[in-house]
Amino acid sequence: MTKHPMRPATLLVHQGQDRDPATGAATVPIYQASTYHHPGGVGQEFDYARSGNPSRQQVEDAIALLEGGAQGFAYASGMAAIAGALSLLQAGDHLIAPDDLYGGTYRYLTMILPQQGIEASLVDQTDPQAVKAALKPNTRALLLETPSNPLFKITDIRALVEIARENNLLTLIDNTFMTPLLQRPLEFGVDVSIHSATKFLGGHSDLLAGLTAVADPELAKRVKRFQNAFGPVLGPFDCFLLSRGIKTLKLRLEEGQMNAAELARRLEQHPAVRRVIYPGLESFAQRELHFSQATGAGAVLSFELNNEAQVKPLLETVELPIIAPSLGGVETILTHCWSMSHAAIPAEAKRTIGIGPGLLRISVGIEAVEDLWEDLERGLST
Ligand SMILES: Cc1ncc(COP(=O)(O)O)c(C=O)c1O
Repeated sequence: MTKHPMRPATLLVHQGQDRDPATGAATVPIYQASTYHHPGGVGQEFDYARSGNPSRQQVEDAIALLEGGAQGFAYASGMAAIAGALSLLQAGDHLIAPDDLYGGTYRYLTMILPQQGIEASLVDQTDPQAVKAALKPNTRALLLETPSNPLFKITDIRALVEIARENNLLTLIDNTFMTPLLQRPLEFGVDVSIHSATKFLGGHSDLLAGLTAVADPELAKRVKRFQNAFGPVLGPFDCFLLSRGIKTLKLRLEEGQMNAAELARRLEQHPAVRRVIYPGLESFAQRELHFSQATGAGAVLSFELNNEAQVKPLLETVELPIIAPSLGGVETILTHCWSMSHAAIPAEAKRTIGIGPGLLRISVGIEAVEDLWEDLERGLST
């Protein structure tokens, strides 16, 4: 890769390593090997695949470059990436996380971290004062997710980084919904940016993967130590798929975003819909804050039906979207948050934070928007 500074569209295509250094092949090959020859007993750059291999190095360098970090890490899933970042905490530490967050992260924070002696407080992070009020003498980190999932609560990244700096805390962010194309948290001083690369970065619903980018080389050494010691790494073939997906991120995400904006406007006018939550809408209360830290609204929106009894007929009628707990594919994906993506959160907790059984999340793909609308409209009218 050239040493001159490049724009995102170029970085996405060429990434850190855009051809095989050994042969000049147009893509870095799938290095399907678990171990590496030590000539004369001397270890080389790659010695054993858990510690590193060229296919993984390629995507790890790509995410570091795209996020502007010192080092990147690739994991077998987004959850493994989150666990990898949270390995920076230790027994006795306290973490402040958002009250509206991905269900799997909720499960990890409330069921796994306590087993490790780490306590998490779930706080409405849209209010920096609430974050300050939740600080304890043993608070060591803030975990952010903005926009949050599925309610699109926007957290002021700059304000939370300031709180973190005043109190000597680490800041971690789940940047899955935005990707580094739309939001680059490390530029605001965030320490670790985390992705479920299963979503937009992979982009084709054919891959489970996680990525992190770490700002500081010393912090990166600690993340590397855990990744190597625990071993939840991304396999070589999946690294290849992920690198291939990243190349077209701009085309896919911008097209999906345009379709999402159109569907959001139309859903807002539909009599069966109580509310639409999408940062690109004029009616979105935190629009200004979102666009002060991101360059786009993304391709995912949530909407709530007037009557939760309409959910079943809608899911039975629509033909185009996959009905599933995921997002970020080229195809449209419709999620019933209550029973799918947020099933791990107890019913009472879901209701308290505003996730009702009538709420649906739609990750808008790159199909013809008129086809998507006609399909949705048929489901909404039944
Ligand atoms: C925002 C967010 N973070 C993390 C995850 C977990 O990622 P994975 O399913 O790749 O483990 C998801 C999965 O849906 C997600 O939506």
